[in-house]
Amino acid sequence: MPDTYAVIGNPVTYSKSPLIHAEFSKQTGQDMYYEAILAPLNGFAAAIEDFRQNGGKGMNVTIPFKVDAYKISTQLTEQATAARAVNTLVFDGDEIYGHNTDGAGLIRDIVINLGFAITAKRVLLCGAGGAARGIILPLLNQEPRMLVISNRTVQKAHKLRKQFSSYNNTIVSGNYEDITGKEFDLVINATSASLFGEPLPLPQGTFSAESLAYDIMYGNGQTPFLQFASQEGAEYLSDGIGMLVEQAAESFFIWRGIRPETKQLIEMLRK
Ligand code: ATR
Repeated sequence: MPDTYAVIGNPVTYSKSPLIHAEFSKQTGQDMYYEAILAPLNGFAAAIEDFRQNGGKGMNVTIPFKVDAYKISTQLTEQATAARAVNTLVFDGDEIYGHNTDGAGLIRDIVINLGFAITAKRVLLCGAGGAARGIILPLLNQEPRMLVISNRTVQKAHKLRKQFSSYNNTIVSGNYEDITGKEFDLVINATSASLFGEPLPLPQGTFSAESLAYDIMYGNGQTPFLQFASQEGAEYLSDGIGMLVEQAAESFFIWRGIRPETKQLIEMLRK
């Protein structure tokens, strides 16, 4: 019987993970089966237990269960601990290993796929929710010249800065007005504003001509954030499709020890 994996979420119908992992297993010749599991909002732990009891090897976890997955993990990676969220589970005997591959996926997409080095760059991270928290440590590991966290609710940005100050005490936090007059090489939109078709209140002059504007959201055409970046003259624009595929590739690597090719799949999904 092939090893079984699944993505668990609510809703889960729109998840691209089954398609992505089916492509990866085909490409690498791995004998595995990957399904989508819709868990009731109060039924995450029971669904996990059921899957494990039936011999399931691992899972991807999506909205709204990433914090629940963090809580049920018996072993956590440094990145999952920092993110306080888990998107990849490995079941091994009584142990549940919790990983978070979102940040690594984002960094791989930016640095390798887009060829944009983060080291020594001025980085602006917009947002201070779960998505933003999950990418701070991998960003810091790239040793940017500066990391500024901006958020509408400024207290949340300050809280994130404090959480990560033991890794790097030069992080700056504030609201969007505070960055007036400052220019950034890399601007990441880790808010949920694009989900609602809303722009961010970024001041003019945030982007330079060589800036990369990266929106972790994807689908439904160019987001208002990317439109603004383009109007402001940013040369490089990217949605989050590459991050989606790369975080899946990281999960696949954790489970199977093989790193799948991602380029063609990213191109196919973008079409
Ligand atoms: P996620 O897990 O996707 O990060 P979240 O924890 O609810 O979701 O966080 C959503 C983030 O998007 C927050 O940083 C939120 O800003 P606030 O903390 O001020 O609420 C941000 N956000 C959502 N809609 C926004 C908008 N229209 N403009 C600016 N920021 C927005």
